[in-house]
Amino acid sequence: MIRQFLCVFPLLLLNLLFWSCGENSAPGLDQAYYRQWRHYLGDPGRSHYSTLSQFSPENVARLTVAWEYDSPDFGQMQMSPIIIDSVLYGVSAALRAFALDARTGKRLWLFGDSLKVWHSTSRGLSYWESGKDRRILYTLGPDLWSLDARTGKPDASFGQGGRIDLRSGLPESTREKFVISNTPGTVFKDLIIMPLRVSEGAAAAPGDIMAFHIQTGKLAWAFHTIPHPGEMGNDTWGNPDTYRSEVVGAANNWAGMALDPQREILYVPTGSAAPDFYGGLRRGQNLFANSLLALDANSGTLLWHYQFTHHDLWDRDPPAPPNLLTVERGGKRIAAVAQTTKQGYVFLFDRVSGEPLFDIEERPVPASTLPGETSWPTQPIPVKPAPFARQSQDLTEADISPYAPDRDSLLQVFKRADKRQYAPPSLEPVLLLPGYDGGAEWGGAGADPEKGILYVNANEMAWFLQMEEVAAEHASLSPGEQTYRRYCMVCHQAGRQGMPASGFPSLLGVGSRLTAEEIAGQIAAGKGMMPGFPQLGQAERNALVSFLLQQEDKQEVSESGPSQAVPDPTPFRHTGYNKFLDANGLPAISPPWGSLSAIDLNTGEYLWQIPLGETDSLRALGYPSTGVENYGGPAVTQNGLLFIAATKDGYLRAFNRHTGALLWEYKLPAPAFATPAIYEVGGKQYLAIACGGEKLGTEKGNKIIAFSLEEP
Ligand code: HEC
Repeated sequence: MIRQFLCVFPLLLLNLLFWSCGENSAPGLDQAYYRQWRHYLGDPGRSHYSTLSQFSPENVARLTVAWEYDSPDFGQMQMSPIIIDSVLYGVSAALRAFALDARTGKRLWLFGDSLKVWHSTSRGLSYWESGKDRRILYTLGPDLWSLDARTGKPDASFGQGGRIDLRSGLPESTREKFVISNTPGTVFKDLIIMPLRVSEGAAAAPGDIMAFHIQTGKLAWAFHTIPHPGEMGNDTWGNPDTYRSEVVGAANNWAGMALDPQREILYVPTGSAAPDFYGGLRRGQNLFANSLLALDANSGTLLWHYQFTHHDLWDRDPPAPPNLLTVERGGKRIAAVAQTTKQGYVFLFDRVSGEPLFDIEERPVPASTLPGETSWPTQPIPVKPAPFARQSQDLTEADISPYAPDRDSLLQVFKRADKRQYAPPSLEPVLLLPGYDGGAEWGGAGADPEKGILYVNANEMAWFLQMEEVAAEHASLSPGEQTYRRYCMVCHQAGRQGMPASGFPSLLGVGSRLTAEEIAGQIAAGKGMMPGFPQLGQAERNALVSFLLQQEDKQEVSESGPSQAVPDPTPFRHTGYNKFLDANGLPAISPPWGSLSAIDLNTGEYLWQIPLGETDSLRALGYPSTGVENYGGPAVTQNGLLFIAATKDGYLRAFNRHTGALLWEYKLPAPAFATPAIYEVGGKQYLAIACGGEKLGTEKGNKIIAFSLEEP
């Protein structure tokens, strides 16, 4: 007891100091701070953490539904709500923003153009206040909107009628390109700094990090993740003009950022450069793609950086915002930043100096054999912590799933695949484990920021990576089919049969479901996980639609001339996001297929690791827990709980965060591929979560559900 007090006392003092700094103060042990869930994932350090203590390991099994809100739109919600005072703000599956009474779930306002339904994925929204102004900022398509938090009405002083086009801060050449944002911006003083989602193929927009003034919508600063001539790193792209390339782009921050408000430093993980899997047009290390950037939040000036994957050929973007936490080394407390990766690593740095807190080795990796490609000779591997997911080079023939009915044929496929770590893409299949989505994924890791513990949920799904030669394609293919192969095949497959198990629908017979106009609209704007292709000219788009409707023989010469496919700028292309599955559609490697780990970042050692989630068909046969695919993150309480849904099996679970023991589970009406929020109103504490389902072929839902303790 006394020891505990001695630890806490200096922290309390520190916290008081922080508190006096105002709105963006670092979370400490202050209950008032945690009554709200003001920021995406709880706080600017993205800790997913709360000191509220009404729920405890002893009583969590008594949680019941306090209220449910039925959104007007059904479908996937990745959204983690924010709660300010007694109001919960969220975004629906069709990207409508809403405000609810956080005690009852009663709707206060709804905003969004219901005529132009953008159906994308949104992870939430941001809040800003100054004097009497209170605003909600969120994105719909390429537009960032500023709304009055009380009424949901657009704020007339922001941009044009309450919105700015995110492309307004990018070079002129990107005006027709696909640029949206699915992750809430980070608010610092009167600035909002925006994540971007852009194309991952050829013709991607550059992924500049942009800060906008919240009072006006004007660009305050931009950091060029693909450096312009004269800027550091410009010489790592093979061509000084790559930043305005018509083909190469991205290196965007799509996963969101973390902020240290006291030090005024922004931590920004950047994604891979596009095109993703062929790098012959971007020779070199490709700074600042796949990096963690520490930027001065006032100016965007680079303070330090670390690159996790050099010249990325595997789409190894850091998938989540970093976590800010404090670790102890030799009796000293160090402000640290931890970044989880798709590869299954946690990289830990001193937040100020950027020095790694566990050694990182540059290890030699296999060289590419694709003509025109030069893979980077080494990749960084942290010596600690050990990876939180198995990696392809760990697998042996004994790791084919014991539940697979077609073991022998899976074994043949397995033997043929290249399983070396960082095996470069080639004309032969490479087994990618963890898969394209990680390892860690966008829901992010939770943390105990005071004690330096990280809680990471991860996927352990093997996928294939294989390239094909573009020129090998039959020149006799119609222009529509050539365009299809260039832009669409990677997800919808060469034969248009899609990959339903990966979430990519079949386009066979699409004409019976959608009109030509609807298809053209979806191609331009994108939908859900599908990016938009606004850069396609009318002729290309017409040819593509005719190909999908199988009406090519009927095709007329349009005003813009006869249909012509624009040649693919890369000599090789990716053949598709294929999962390694057995004949039952279950993962072809042995479980666990999804996991949850608690890692002590003071020592780099694991506290525990468990499979996360159940495969219903195997559970029914009495098999042990397999863990399942999961998207969405945990929420952690100071007094010992970890809440997480995320799993395909549709449960919300509570674990003892010190031991990993399951304490409670609740079957949701649809899976929640989202991160919960914890808050208090009127003395009562709640946990809220969005359950939209749809992903991974699950049922669609539309509810936000809040849980609380039943009255004694
Ligand atoms: C990154 C993967 C990806 C790429 C690339 C992609 N799509 Fe899609 N596509 C999807 C997903 C996912 C959906 C389901 C979207 C939803 O409903 O949320 C979809 C849905 C569609 C649909 C609607 C199908 C239906 O029955 O409702 C059409 C049409 C379509 N895509 C056409 C295209 C065309 C044409 C291209 C190339 C220009 C393309 N897609 C490129 C992933 C992709």
